[in-house]
Amino acid sequence: MPRTTISVIKADVGSFPGHSRTHPKLLETAAKMLKAERGKLLVDSFVTHCGDDLELIMTHTRGVDSEAIHRLAWNVFLECTGVAKNLKLYGAGQDMPADAFAGNVRGMGPGVAEMEFEERESDPVLVFMAGKTGPGAWNFFLYKVFADPFNTPGLVTDPSLSEGFVFEVHDLVGKRKISFACPEESYSLLAYIGAPSRYVIRHVFKKDGTIAASTSTQRLNTMAGRCRGTDDPVMIVRAESGFPSMGEAIEPFTIPVLVAGWMRGAHHGPLMPVGLCDANCTRFDGPPRVICFGFQVTNGKLIGPADMFDDPGFDRVRARCNELADTIRAQGPFEPHRLSSEEMAYTTLPAVEKKLEPRWEPLGD
Ligand code: F6R
Ligand code: MG
Repeated sequence: MPRTTISVIKADVGSFPGHSRTHPKLLETAAKMLKAERGKLLVDSFVTHCGDDLELIMTHTRGVDSEAIHRLAWNVFLECTGVAKNLKLYGAGQDMPADAFAGNVRGMGPGVAEMEFEERESDPVLVFMAGKTGPGAWNFFLYKVFADPFNTPGLVTDPSLSEGFVFEVHDLVGKRKISFACPEESYSLLAYIGAPSRYVIRHVFKKDGTIAASTSTQRLNTMAGRCRGTDDPVMIVRAESGFPSMGEAIEPFTIPVLVAGWMRGAHHGPLMPVGLCDANCTRFDGPPRVICFGFQVTNGKLIGPADMFDDPGFDRVRARCNELADTIRAQGPFEPHRLSSEEMAYTTLPAVEKKLEPRWEPLGD
């Protein structure tokens, strides 16, 4: 049996109205193009959206970073850009900054999370997709799932989990990486991942090197020189039998965590778990939100999806997120609702400061 690869590749290639949701025509175009590749490049595919991001979930046997798979995703986004332009959708083609495909979509605009594994007897996989959210948003949740026994009792009670996990952290500014084994190095891990605007968990592995979780890490705003929309990351998590259970993997989303993103990619706000029917950003262009689709991966086929946050069990966190949203919105244009000055450097604010620069006078001694 060949190893199975899951590639989740996403881009915002236009939305309506404004930056709020993906148009059905884009979903239809993408789904048709991927369906035509089933039995050829792909084993299976599923197309969805979170807010203004078009999400391509694909299975195949070509491994991660496959040029053919990335080219397929690129071509889907190009075709959808054409559809978006015809409809004069807002921000048509906004995540497609370079015209020519150069072998890999990573670093070009679209976000990518991928993993390759040998299928177990039964292989449950969760795909998380966020909107109006910065790339480090998964740090908190991955720590809770794979390192915190108060979230994941299996770390204590299941011998197949008690060795712990290894976290691979990327430094988005220094362009370097480091790995920490947990539980023994959990304080060192937290020293970095507590700064999610710079340090991002890219992968989680079992101690024997088996992949457990994979995220997209792109910071589109730094790549483009200014904010062209938030990064809206995606993440793949394997569950059960040697990994945290399905319920342990979604439990931390019952905590209303503040993330960077929201309005103009320039504000902190609570990350709200929602079902697909609520994956549309409206209030103040948000609030930031996350959807989760559960699948069984069966000989490469995606059995599902199950809409994991479409559950009254998440009603209370949604209410608490709304309360937190009211509280932080009341701060208006002030920090910490507004991002730190360092992070605002990638928004439109520097253009305002440039205009005002000549009016500043030295204070003297
Ligand atoms: C944030 C987002 C929106 C836009 C805002 C301004 O991710 O997409 O909040 O930043 O609508 O957009 P422009 O500059 O296109 O008017
Ligand atoms: Mg988006």
